[in-house]
Parts: sequence; structure tokens; C-alpha cells
Amino acid sequence: MNKRTNIILVGPMGAGKSTIGRQLAARLHMPFFDSDREIEKRTGVDIPTIFEFEGEEGFRNRESAMLEDLCAQRGIVLATGGGAVMREANRELLRRCGKVVYLRTAIQTQLRRTARDRNRPLLQTEDPKARLEELMRIRDPLYREIADLIVDTDRDSVRKAVQAVVRHF
Ligand code: S3P
Repeated sequence: MNKRTNIILVGPMGAGKSTIGRQLAARLHMPFFDSDREIEKRTGVDIPTIFEFEGEEGFRNRESAMLEDLCAQRGIVLATGGGAVMREANRELLRRCGKVVYLRTAIQTQLRRTARDRNRPLLQTEDPKARLEELMRIRDPLYREIADLIVDTDRDSVRKAVQAVVRHF
């Protein structure tokens, strides 16, 4: 793989985008960025606070702007937020930005990985399972639309997922 190519990780909450992304970046000696963490650094507040004061729309605007800035770089591994694919403009941007890897994950696995997490406003609901299912129904085709590679993160350990990406590109 060309050293200047970006690797973009997409997929739902609890897919392991940050964990796998960090290890992938270390393995390839590339810098790692997580779009949500960059938004938190830039604003100085956490994601739930942005949702509280600006609503989801406000957060999405910040997310789109952050993805544009991050995609101006070359040779990075980028973990995106689970909803980054919702806007068509973001999908176009991410496709142009680099090789897109969809980390696919079953709802049960997502639930387990996000269970005690207070940092995901969309899961602060009576029925997180129903919410995850609804999001997956809408977003799975969008992840697939832009994916160059799909890696299953239920079956694969982090190490195996990293290997699958390294081997493919
Ligand atoms: C969101 C996923 C989160 C974060 C925000 C919205 C979503 O990122 O961007 O809470 O819409 O699925 P992770 O996928 O990293 O949890």
C-alpha cells in the first residue's frame, strides 16, 4: 500500500473502530486519529455536551467539518463516528479520502461493548437494543456503499482484524 494512502474505519458504535484503528496505525507506523476525540479536543467539551447544547444536527455539522480537515492529511488511519455515513457529502468525502474499511458487528456484540457507556447520547434510551437495530437497518447499506473491504469484528480478534486489513491493502 502507498504510504500516503489513508485508511478510514467506518461501522456502528461498539464495532471496535478506535481499538482496531490504534493497533492498525501502530502496525503500519501511521498516525491515528479518532474523529470524535478530535471534535472533543477542538471544542473542549465531550460529545454528550455537544448533543445537549447543539442537538444532533449541531454535532453532525462539527463532524462533517472535522472529517474534511482530517482528510486533508495523507497517510493516516482514521476512525469515524458511527453516524458519519449518514450525510451523502460525508460518504463522498470518505470515499475520496482513502481506503474504507467497514467493521461489521452483530447487535449483541455492540450492546455488550457499549453497555456501561455514558458517552454515546444515542444509546441513552430505554431500549438501546431497539435503537442499535434501527440504526443498523438504516446505516448498514450506507457502510457497504462506501466500503472497499468488510471485516467481521465478532469472529475476528483485534489482532486478526488488523491482519485482515494489512493483508488486503
Ligand atoms: C454516533 C456514534 C458515536 C459518536 C456519536 C454519534 C452515531 O461514535 O460519533 O455519539 O451516530 O452512531 P462511535 O461510533 O465511535 O461510538
